[in-house]
Amino acid sequence: MDIVIYPDPRLRKKNAPVTTFDKSLATNVREMFDAMYATSGVGLAAPQVGLNIRLLVYNPSGKSDLPNEEVVLCNPKMVYKSKETESGEEGCLSFPEVNGQVIRPLKVKIEAQNLEGEAFELELEDWDARIFQHELDHLDGILFIDRMTPASKNQVKPVLEDLVHDYKQALADS
Ligand code: CO
Repeated sequence: MDIVIYPDPRLRKKNAPVTTFDKSLATNVREMFDAMYATSGVGLAAPQVGLNIRLLVYNPSGKSDLPNEEVVLCNPKMVYKSKETESGEEGCLSFPEVNGQVIRPLKVKIEAQNLEGEAFELELEDWDARIFQHELDHLDGILFIDRMTPASKNQVKPVLEDLVHDYKQALADS
């Protein structure tokens, strides 16, 4: 399972709800976690592996030997976000070498379904809330560069231009 790199248009596509909670969904989730750990990530959304469905996974520890911390969310919805916000540094597996400050609500409440299709609720804050919001954005085609502070956006501009250049080059070569 390869990670889709910016500016691949699959990162901006519409993502369909998960409707079938079967073995192949579970297999995809396992492969997403493997791809995430292999690239030292803490979260991954399905469109980042070329699956345009409303599915995301994360592990706030980023450690494959802490599987109890793995979270799988199918069709997640943010039903509450705090007025209180916090600025924090983010990276994204679809943006190698890019980091920047993003301001996000500190606390969120979520409704989602698990791998069996059962509905559940989750309350998150701080780091976990940040990871979730970053991944949820992916399901709506929103990327963290869209939300970066102007100073960070300015800083990462040359690297983004390099990524666009590499993408066009790869297309031309293929
Ligand atoms: Co990301």
